[in-house]
Amino acid sequence: MERVLITGALGQLGHEFIKFFIKKNIYVLASDIRRPEEKLNCDFEIIDAMDNKRLNVVVKKYNINTIYHLVAVLSATGEKNPFKSWKVNMESFQNIIEVSIENKIKKIFWPSSIAVFGTKSNLENVSQDPILNPNTIYGISKLAGEKLISYYNKKYDLDIRSLRYPGIISFESKPGGGTTDYVMEMIESLKKGEDYICFLEKDTRLPMLYIEDAILGTIKFMSSKKKNLNVKESYNITGFSITPEELELKLKENGCIGNVIYRPDYRNEIAKTWPKNINDKISKEDWNWKANFGLNSTLEEAFK
Ligand SMILES: NC(=O)c1ccc[n+]([C@@H]2O[C@H](COP(=O)([O-])OP(=O)(O)OC[C@H]3O[C@@H](n4cnc5c(N)ncnc54)[C@H](O)[C@@H]3O)[C@@H](O)[C@H]2O)c1
Repeated sequence: MERVLITGALGQLGHEFIKFFIKKNIYVLASDIRRPEEKLNCDFEIIDAMDNKRLNVVVKKYNINTIYHLVAVLSATGEKNPFKSWKVNMESFQNIIEVSIENKIKKIFWPSSIAVFGTKSNLENVSQDPILNPNTIYGISKLAGEKLISYYNKKYDLDIRSLRYPGIISFESKPGGGTTDYVMEMIESLKKGEDYICFLEKDTRLPMLYIEDAILGTIKFMSSKKKNLNVKESYNITGFSITPEELELKLKENGCIGNVIYRPDYRNEIAKTWPKNINDKISKEDWNWKANFGLNSTLEEAFK
């Protein structure tokens, strides 16, 4: 029986993973550095993922055998304090690995990101294994994490798995300081008939994934047979790619009346070093990955 610990569980992705595990009757212990604002329908513990001892105690107390380690300082927030970003992203991951070795954790999920790519990665259509030259501290930490996965899996016979998520779009759980957050912000403002100041240029194209595809895809990936997984670091996945202007037009077609004012800031500089499109062929071949949501179906969810 799976007994799952989620770290950083109160963030955009964590909320949705909690809901999934509860629905499937899988034991889940949510943890975060802060208290939940609303009641969760599962056990909860405050855990600072930088605190190795506390992690160890909780893993033992609840007999945890699977960890989803979601703690991170995301791209845009990370650029404001790169030292903190590196420390949180790397030290917490090392802690999870140490605790996993000691407690014989069966499986660990650790998300990587499209931030590992850079201007040398052929950004028009990024393959699984291009040159990686990340430009943000977030991307650098994700790339280092990918390398740690293959190193520790081999050295300690662990089963740490990873996906390179593009921008995740969700409407119930709020985003946590990424470069793709504009999608949810623009939808929210225009739906209310308010104007939106967009921090990207109108033609900055980025890959996205609707939350349901992200959660179900991750679960499918985590349940795949290890022998089928040929990529030893992190797999590319994607849903669809869009520009802010394309999103604005779609929202207007859906009857929204607010305007978008384009005022690009440092986040547009980050986005310029990220992929426009992702090639996820290897995920399709190795573990049968398929995204079900495109832009139109994602917007249908926004207007439900
Ligand atoms: N959301 C996206 O678009 C996206 C895209 C690519 C990759 N990812 C990755 O997915 C993971 C989850 O992302 P998210 O969007 O849910 O992030 P988020 O920022 O919404 O949530 C992160 C959570 O971690 C918690 N946290 C921060 N420091 C902590 C610490 N020291 N100990 C314990 N908890 C701490 C925060 O309180 C927050 O609830 C991250 O690793 C992120 O890099 C997300």
